[in-house]
Amino acid sequence: MSAARKLFVVGGSGFLGQAICHSALARGWEVLSLSRHGAPGKALTRDPSGKPAAGCIRWIQGDALKPESFQEHLPGCTAVVHTVGVLMENNYKSMVNMGATSRASRQPPTTYEQANRDTALSVARAARGVQGLDTFVYISASDVLPLISARYISTKREAENDLLAHRDAMRPIILRPGFMFSSVRPVSLPIAAGVSLYNTLYHRTPAGCLLKHTPFAKAASPALRREVVASAVVNAIEDRRVSGVLEIADIERIGNTSVP
Ligand SMILES: NC(=O)c1ccc[n+]([C@@H]2O[C@H](COP(=O)([O-])OP(=O)(O)OC[C@H]3O[C@@H](n4cnc5c(N)ncnc54)[C@H](OP(=O)(O)O)[C@@H]3O)[C@@H](O)[C@H]2O)c1
Repeated sequence: MSAARKLFVVGGSGFLGQAICHSALARGWEVLSLSRHGAPGKALTRDPSGKPAAGCIRWIQGDALKPESFQEHLPGCTAVVHTVGVLMENNYKSMVNMGATSRASRQPPTTYEQANRDTALSVARAARGVQGLDTFVYISASDVLPLISARYISTKREAENDLLAHRDAMRPIILRPGFMFSSVRPVSLPIAAGVSLYNTLYHRTPAGCLLKHTPFAKAASPALRREVVASAVVNAIEDRRVSGVLEIADIERIGNTSVP
């Protein structure tokens, strides 16, 4: 039996966070989740395939921007995964979740700087120096989305740079996924199908040449299944050789590798 492995997932109640919690639980990790609401609306008792979850997640209600609300839970943890981030500053989650009752829609507006950068720096500062906590995973993003504010990516890169600069204190693992999809977020499925069609047009037809010099050129990157990204997170933590920035192709490769 391996030494105690305890994962602290910041945003474990979110779209990707839930899949990361399940992936880690299935691999025998003890899992804590931090979010402002604590447990998600529908507490997780089943994994994404519908099977009963392998263990229990400890739901902590707190704010990543307020260390006093979570730092007592860090001792004993061996890795942190940070998944907080906003794509748009005006609570677009109420639209993508297709629910007027979405709890995210009731949050006050958050800036890119606060959500994408400051929450990560706040948790990383609190985590540095905690004995045995040696890995920090940051869910960043690939610069593939056209028409989104440049600050979405620049604030992600600022957080990445801080984590890389402190690599002596904690091993930084930075994932830069493109668009992620899953049936649990139904609106993501037609978008993923559109991304796939666009990739075919771009890479395999003459239309690609016409698109090359438009803002849409960068969108020609594969969408990723949420579960593949979650699996890449856990695989990367467990493989001590993995460190630094993981681009879309790296995430696909590591996420589809089963670790013995
Ligand atoms: N979805 C995509 O296609 C995609 C693509 C590329 C990159 N990404 C990145 O992947 C990450 C995860 O995305 P997602 O779609 O899973 O996001 P999400 O569903 O919005 O989940 C965000 C999570 O963070 C929590 N949270 C927000 N603010 C917080 C705070 N101040 N303190 C503690 N917890 C907080 C939320 O819960 P509460 O509201 O209860 O706090 C929720 O659990 C983000 O960084 C995003 O930028 C996403």
